[in-house]
Amino acid sequence: MELESHQFVSFFEPEQAAELCKRAIVETFPDRKVLFDEGDNPDFLYLVLEGQVEFRKYISPNEYRSLAKAVPNGYFGELGILDGQPRSAQAVVCEGATLAKIPRHDLMDVLQHTKGSVVIRLFSYTIQRLRESTEQYVKQQVYQDKMVLLGEMLNTVIHDFKSPLSGINLASGMIKELHPDEETVEWCDLIKAQAQRMSAMAEELLEFAQGNTVLNKQPINLAIALQRFEKLNRVYLQEARVQLVIQATDVMVNADENKLMRVWQNLVSNAVEAFDGCGGSIEITAWANGKDAKIQIHDNGPGIPEAIREHLFEAFVTYGKRGGTGLGTAIAKSIIDAHGGEISFECNGSRGTTFYIRLPMLKRFPTS
Ligand SMILES: Nc1ncnc2c1ncn2[C@@H]1O[C@H](COP(=O)(O)OP(=O)(O)O)[C@@H](O)[C@H]1O
Ligand SMILES: [Mg+2]
Repeated sequence: MELESHQFVSFFEPEQAAELCKRAIVETFPDRKVLFDEGDNPDFLYLVLEGQVEFRKYISPNEYRSLAKAVPNGYFGELGILDGQPRSAQAVVCEGATLAKIPRHDLMDVLQHTKGSVVIRLFSYTIQRLRESTEQYVKQQVYQDKMVLLGEMLNTVIHDFKSPLSGINLASGMIKELHPDEETVEWCDLIKAQAQRMSAMAEELLEFAQGNTVLNKQPINLAIALQRFEKLNRVYLQEARVQLVIQATDVMVNADENKLMRVWQNLVSNAVEAFDGCGGSIEITAWANGKDAKIQIHDNGPGIPEAIREHLFEAFVTYGKRGGTGLGTAIAKSIIDAHGGEISFECNGSRGTTFYIRLPMLKRFPTS
């Protein structure tokens, strides 16, 4: 955009606006260029003409929190210019940016000759932006604190789970040995598999709380993985009087099967919980579409409550449930994101909810 039409310039009367443009230095910066660091003395006010600038606050030398971004027509660095205090965050260019820099003494000079109403307009914008960034910082801080608490809690839970889970594993192994008939063996294997999933679930929650989704990717045939998923959930779904229909072609993806199972489990459990004991049906469909594998999970339940639709995938967003953590869909999204895919959903009035998942496909098997 042109400097003359930037919102900061338009705060001023034509004469001062022209003066500001004359004194501004327009410069293009490369990606990741640090414009200033936290603690630096303020020298310029920056107007963004093209590109973006990110503001970061360092928590440790290797870890920072992103506070906000300035986009074209935005400006930054005005607080330091006005109060002379050191910069409170680092400013870094994202993917290249063209900025107009107005030197501190030039801006102060123009402000000296500016009408009071212009200064008031400038202040009200500045205060509004200050409010917005404070609000965002507080929100991030609360989120971070919750995650730390969750991580600490899960560490204890995982530790305490270990001995009862190994008890269950041992007992199911003993029963299998004592009664080696086909049916008992199958049930015992199911007990063992479910116990293992419980510890995997707790581990995954911990991983999520710590913010790292480590993937163990392998070629997976979605049709086979979904069959396995159905088997693991057969008893659970029967008890809830929920019918699960799976329609899948042989689509190959390069994925972490346990993590994909987690995604399906979280979405299917949500649907079952939404049926609230009244029964219902869930349909999982998987097919190949160009370079993508598509998975659709549809239920004929009441639909996602309107109040949370916009924020469904955010952590801790839960609604109408006792004991809901609000992490199920957030975990699902973090796993799909880590695979380079996408997840979205649609509610069709009383016709239930459909989740759409896209994953990069490995290759398509010839279907027989
Ligand atoms: N299939 C669905 N049908 C109706 N409501 C749903 C469905 N899936 C999710 N929800 C709603 O979204 C909320 C968030 O789900 P989730 O992130 O898994 O957290 P939690 O299940 O712990 O509440 C649920 O509390 C529920 O109100
Ligand atoms: Mg859930």
